[in-house]
Amino acid sequence: MALQAFCVLVTMIMAIAHQAYGSSRGSVGLVSGFIDPPIVGICSTSVIIHGYKCQEIDVKTQDGFILNMQRIPEGRAGGGDTKRQPVLIQHGVLVDGMTWLLNPPEQNLPLILADKGFDVWIANARGTRYSCRHTSLQPYEPGFWNWSWDELVVFDLPAVFDYVYSQTGQKAHYVGHSLGTLIALASFSEGLLVDKLKSAVLLSPIAYLGHMNSALDVAAAKAFVEITTLFGMAEFNPKGEPVTNFLRALCDYPGVDCYDLLTSISGKNCCLNASTVDLFLKNEPQSTSTKNMVHLAQTVRDGVLAKYNYGNPDFNMMHYGEAKPPIYNLSNIPHDLPIFISYGGQDALSDVRDVELLLDSLKFHDVDKLTIQYIKDYAHADFIMGVNAKDIVYNQVVSFFNHQH
Ligand SMILES: *[C@@H]1O[C@H](CO)[C@@H](O)[C@H](O)[C@H]1NC(C)=O
Ligand SMILES: *[C@@H]1O[C@H](CO)[C@@H](O)[C@H](O)[C@H]1NC(C)=O
Ligand SMILES: *[C@@H]1O[C@H](CO)[C@@H](O)[C@H](O)[C@H]1NC(C)=O
Repeated sequence: MALQAFCVLVTMIMAIAHQAYGSSRGSVGLVSGFIDPPIVGICSTSVIIHGYKCQEIDVKTQDGFILNMQRIPEGRAGGGDTKRQPVLIQHGVLVDGMTWLLNPPEQNLPLILADKGFDVWIANARGTRYSCRHTSLQPYEPGFWNWSWDELVVFDLPAVFDYVYSQTGQKAHYVGHSLGTLIALASFSEGLLVDKLKSAVLLSPIAYLGHMNSALDVAAAKAFVEITTLFGMAEFNPKGEPVTNFLRALCDYPGVDCYDLLTSISGKNCCLNASTVDLFLKNEPQSTSTKNMVHLAQTVRDGVLAKYNYGNPDFNMMHYGEAKPPIYNLSNIPHDLPIFISYGGQDALSDVRDVELLLDSLKFHDVDKLTIQYIKDYAHADFIMGVNAKDIVYNQVVSFFNHQH
C-alpha cells in the first residue's frame, strides 16, 4: 500500500514529462545534463529579468560534485551593502531551484524574501540541470549516479551551508520543500548543519510516507519493480526515452488518468496559475539518480526514516556494520532549534497522517520553538506556486524569521 503510494509520486512527475515532452524527444538521456557552468542560467532567465541582482555560484561537495547556486543579495530597492540575514532555499526531488521562481516576482518566495531584506541563496541538488557536473566523473558513467538522498544529507547540504557561512559569516535560515524537508530533518537528527543554522522552515514536510493517497496505486506498484530492475545504477531522467516509454505503458493502465496527474497525484492544488503551470512543465522535471528514487521507495515501504538499504544483510553489513540500515532518529533533532512547519489538507504526497507522525517524533521539542501551520485547502504544489502563497504562507515565514534572534 505504502509502496504503491510512493510510486504515484514517481508516476506523476514522469507522466508530466511525458505529456510535456511527448515522444519526439530523442534518446539523449544519458548525457542530457552535462554542460559547462551556466552562462544562461537561473539568474538570467528568472531573476535579473525582474530587476534583481543575481549571482551564479558553483560549490564543490566533498565527493566531487559541483553544485550550482544563485545568490540574490538584495531586493529591487537595493541596499545590499548593509548586513543581511542569509536564507538558504532547497527544492524537492525531480525539480530544481527554478521552481521557486516561476510565479511573478511579487508572488514567489525568493524574490519576496529579497524584498523583505534577506540575502537569498537558492540551492540546486546534484543531478539537476545546472548541478550535473563532477570533478572526475561524467554523467554517462554509472558512478556519477551512485548516490541516494543519504548523500544529499552528508554532502550537498553541508557544502551549501558551509559556503553560505564562509561568505556571510552568519548562520542561515533554511527553507525546504518536500525532499528538501526530509534531507534537512535527517541532517539535523545527525547533528549536521545545526551549528550553521538559525532556523528551519519546512513546507509540505516529508519524513514518513506511508499514507500517501492516490487512485493510481496498482500501476504505480508495478512501476516500482520496473524502476529497480530496468534502470539499474543510472540516471533517472524523466525526459529520457527509457523513462518516457515506461510511462507511456503506465498511462495505458486501466484507471490511470495521465491527463490530470498533477491533481490526481500531488493532490487537489487549490491555487495554481495556469501560466505558471505551463512554465513548470517547460522547465521540470529534472534528473535524479535511480538509487535516490529507490531509496525514497524504501522510505515509503519500510515506514521508517533510514539509510539506503543495500537489499541484503551482507551488503548492509559491509556498508554499515549492521544487517539493517541505521535509522535517522528525528527525536535527536536539537530541541531548541526553531522550526516552522506548514502542511496542507489536500496534499497527497505529504499526507496529513504522515505529518502527524512527524509531529509526534518532535513531541519533545521545546514548545515555543515549534510553529505549526495547517492550510486546509493546500496541496503539494500550492506551497511553491500558489497565487496566494504570499498571503497565506510566505508572510508567516518572514515573520517567523524576524522573530529569531
Ligand atoms: C498568472 O501568471 C501570469 C504570468 O506570470 C501573470 O501575468 C498573472 O498576473 C498571474 N495571475 C494571477 C492571478 O496571479
Ligand atoms: C557505488 O558506491 C559504493 C560505495 O558507496 C561502492 O561500493 C560501489 O562499488 C559503487 N558503484 C559504482 C558503480 O560506482
Ligand atoms: C530515538 O531517540 C529517542 C531519544 O533519544 C529514543 O527514546 C528512541 O528510542 C529512539 N528511537 C529509535 C527507533 O531508536
